[in-house]
Amino acid sequence: MRCDTKYWPAEQARTQIEEAAAALAAGGVVAFPTETVYGLGGDARSTEAVQRIFAAKGRPSDNPLIVHLARSEDIGALAREVNDVESALMKAFWPGPLTLVVPVREGAVSPLVTAGLDTVAVRVPGHELARELIERSGCPIAAPSANRSGRPSPTCAAHVREDLDGRIDGVLDGGATGVGLESTVVRVRGREIFILRPGGITEEQLRRAVKEIGASVAQSESSEATEASAGTEATGGADAPRSPGVKYTHYAPRGEMVLVTGEAAPMLSAVQELIRDASLAGKRVAVLACSEHAAFYRATAVFDCGPRSEPESAARSLYAMLRRCDELDMAYIVAEGYPEAGIGAALMNRLRKAAGGREMIARG
Ligand code: TXA
Ligand code: MG
Repeated sequence: MRCDTKYWPAEQARTQIEEAAAALAAGGVVAFPTETVYGLGGDARSTEAVQRIFAAKGRPSDNPLIVHLARSEDIGALAREVNDVESALMKAFWPGPLTLVVPVREGAVSPLVTAGLDTVAVRVPGHELARELIERSGCPIAAPSANRSGRPSPTCAAHVREDLDGRIDGVLDGGATGVGLESTVVRVRGREIFILRPGGITEEQLRRAVKEIGASVAQSESSEATEASAGTEATGGADAPRSPGVKYTHYAPRGEMVLVTGEAAPMLSAVQELIRDASLAGKRVAVLACSEHAAFYRATAVFDCGPRSEPESAARSLYAMLRRCDELDMAYIVAEGYPEAGIGAALMNRLRKAAGGREMIARG
């Protein structure tokens, strides 16, 4: 089903937001900026609106959506209960890039939003335009990232239009997003916080926020072996909750991508060797490198991802670079790994997904 997609440019923020909010309130689907990536929003209570979100993205129906609220106080309408650990997290990180998976209040959202689970994922975005849009629409807004399924998440309005023009009612342009990677998704069980998807809020930040109330943070496994059972929660050995989304391939560029990790010096030589071999084989080769190394590489395209000590920069530009690799028809993409501290953990998670598990550890 094709439809006209309205485009509300950034310069007209005030007037455009009213129209975009009205479209949402009327059951439409509208893409909007958040601090992480652009989302494709619709009234979470409307099965028809949510169906249109899934259809526009080509998203499998067993992958549930995040519901976005304008204010923390509104969580009571969605969640059956909120415990003290969850409250502490809301207080510390909302508005911001943290998503909480909580027991869903029956009838609060369309069953399509939760994909039949008894939990709902909720967040209050740290982007003013997003909060104002939600507030004015008067609806809880279900919003996955505004990309076609399997494409990198959009970090500017042009990416959204590339993927979804003609399939959605509108795009609200708020310029480039800040974080560049999606929110961190967590589930609290008792006094333990399970990270279901690493993202904009780091493990270190979570730990610090709940230290005083004696809660701990754990990684929820998302290894290949456990992913087959990811549709249901708390399966596969450990009692860790899981996110259905982890079983889907994400962010894969069309070219073959390989991730190179290890110490800086051996990494540089290993990348040079991979470039040389692929170039000799006649392939168009792209390299995603830190600023310190970028000048040492001779490839079809070299993308400077920022200093090694600043994974934030790489996080901000990763998805745009992956899209660019497709545009430039790159057959082979070599990406340098980053240290996994801070946002580096989420960055490496996305790089690994993009590389489809092809990882080479460079040793000196
Ligand atoms: O930053 C973000 O989170 C962006 C912006 C638009 O807010 N949204 C986003 O949505 O990344 P999406 O749909 O691309 O990813 C949502 C993730 C998926 O991995 C999904 O499986 C998980 O959240 N999820 C949603 N509801 C869940 C639930 N009830 N239990 C476990 N995981 C859930
Ligand atoms: Mg997504």
